[in-house]
Amino acid sequence: MQLLDGKKISSLIKAEIAEEVRFMRQSGHRAPHLAAILVGSDGASQTYVNSKVKSCEEVGFQSTLIHLPADTSEAELLHHIGQLNTDTSVDGFIVQLPLPSHIDEHNVLMAIAPEKDVDGFHPSNVGRMALNLPSYLPATPKGILELLQRYEIETAGKHCVIIGRSHIVGLPMSLLMARKATPGNCTVTLCHSHTRNLKEETLRADIIIAALGKPEFLKADMVKEGAVVVDVGITRVADSSKKSGYRIAGDVAFAEVSPKCSYITPVPGGVGLMTVTSLLQNTLSAAKKEIY
Ligand code: GUN
Repeated sequence: MQLLDGKKISSLIKAEIAEEVRFMRQSGHRAPHLAAILVGSDGASQTYVNSKVKSCEEVGFQSTLIHLPADTSEAELLHHIGQLNTDTSVDGFIVQLPLPSHIDEHNVLMAIAPEKDVDGFHPSNVGRMALNLPSYLPATPKGILELLQRYEIETAGKHCVIIGRSHIVGLPMSLLMARKATPGNCTVTLCHSHTRNLKEETLRADIIIAALGKPEFLKADMVKEGAVVVDVGITRVADSSKKSGYRIAGDVAFAEVSPKCSYITPVPGGVGLMTVTSLLQNTLSAAKKEIY
């Protein structure tokens, strides 16, 4: 069993990005600039956004965090988005999800200019991704592709089972693994809450991507010997032995599943770190106008 080391690969990619930023600045360009909007103070969302801002600093990007109160109206949020859309000093921006329930997520994502949508959530970018046209790829699926590629894991002709059909991970991941591309060219099964006999599906998988958000859901008896297992879960689970009062659990029961795997991502230290790095890559692409 070999670990897909998100910590190592994300450090490598950050060093590559930092080098490119130095080159841009030496050539007289300004640093890439990412803005993030956070509405409310959900603990996990705050942690993610802070880590995005910190990563910007590490690679020499400029970053702006717009932190709005939980009772911000949809109209106010749309106003901020409109400003970022036209602010030429900002290359790309994200609105951290989930949003408070009084705000319509679809309206918000539709308001982001596709050329600044470095999360790749706007329907234009989703459609372009599906058709294999140049687009911003959503950060978590992009990070998973990067891990598979850097570890030279063969995907063509493999059976990939994805658990979870979220718009952020499972759905785009299914399109990307089925694309005529490398990594890609898989036969994909997208499983969700209505799937019958999930275990029958996962036992057929050469590659399993667990993205359902249920701690330690995938057990050893659901995994074929030699499978590649990618764990997207990041759930806070109460743990009184920790100073914070919680620990981070993945969707995979790592201790029992890992001995059966050819490759597996740890949690933490796997996909989560790659997500942030992908966002930096997309922001660099935006600054260089590589896609639009
Ligand atoms: N919430 C969970 N993952 C993400 C992500 O990749 N982008 C945004 N904007 N919100 C998220």
